[in-house]
Amino acid sequence: MTTQERRLTVLDENDSFVQFKLDILKRAMPARDAVVFGDMYIVEGGYTKKCLDYGCERALLIDTLETPNWLDTRKAHPTLNFYKGDFSDTLFMQSIAERYEIGIVFDILLHQAPLLNTIHLMLEKVEGRFVIAQPMLREQGFANTLVYLPGNPDVTELYPLVSQSDDYRVFDVHQVNQSHWLWGMTRSFLLNVLKGEGFELTYEQEFRDLPNPNWYWWGAVVERKARNPTHWSNRATTRDLYLDAFI
Ligand SMILES: C[S@@+](CC[C@H](N)C(=O)[O-])C[C@H]1O[C@@H](n2cnc3c(N)ncnc32)[C@H](O)[C@@H]1O
Repeated sequence: MTTQERRLTVLDENDSFVQFKLDILKRAMPARDAVVFGDMYIVEGGYTKKCLDYGCERALLIDTLETPNWLDTRKAHPTLNFYKGDFSDTLFMQSIAERYEIGIVFDILLHQAPLLNTIHLMLEKVEGRFVIAQPMLREQGFANTLVYLPGNPDVTELYPLVSQSDDYRVFDVHQVNQSHWLWGMTRSFLLNVLKGEGFELTYEQEFRDLPNPNWYWWGAVVERKARNPTHWSNRATTRDLYLDAFI
C-alpha cells in the first residue's frame, strides 16, 4: 500500500461513542494547545487532530504505539507533535518540559497500573482543563470505591459486557498492563483524586450504560483551581507529622 492509498487519520463521526467524546472535548474549548494521552489504538490520533480542528494552535500526542496513518497525518499537519513513550513512566514524563492548556484522557485511566502517580504525571503538564471520557463503575456501598479487576472473582457483577470479548480484557491476574482493564473506578473516587490535585469539576455528562448496568459511560471536564502544597507529590514532610512541641 502506498502512502497515497493509506487514509489519513479520521474518526467515524457517525459512531455515537465518537460523538459523545467529541462533545466532551468541545466543552473544554477554546484552548490554545492540547496534550492527548493515548490516542493511537483504532483511532490513530483522531482526537488529537480534532484539537486542531477545534482551534488549538498545536497538539501533542503521547502513546507507546505508532502507525503509518498517524505519521502521514503528522506530516500533513506540522503543528501536530508526537512523543513515543509511556506516560506512566516518571523519568520519561520528566523529559517533557512543555505545558498545555488542556489534557485529554479518553479510555485511558482504567489501564494505568500506577494510577495515582500517572494521573499526577499527566496533570503536571496541564495548566487549565483535564478532559475525561471512560466507563465508570456505579457508586458502591462506600464512596471513593476503586476496584482492582485482575484476579477479581466477582466476574458476573463486574464484567462490563454480556459475554467475554477481546476488546474488554479484564480479570486475568497476570495481565497487569495497559492493554487490559485494571480498575473499576467510581465517580466519587476520581473526582476526589482530582480535587487533591487542585482540579474541580466544571462539566459532566452521563452517556449510557454498558451492557452490564453496573458500568456506565461518563465524560467530564475538570479545571485547575489551585496548586495543593500538601499533596504527596511535594515530597516534603507534612506538618501533621510533627508534634505540637516541635513546631
Ligand atoms: C483504549 S485506547 C484509547 C484510544 C483513544 N483515546 C480512544 O478513546 O479511542 C488506549 C490508547 O492509549 C495508549 N496507552 C495506554 N496506556 C499508555 C501508557 N501508559 N503510555 C502510553 N500510551 C498508553 C494505548 O497504546 C492506546 O493507543
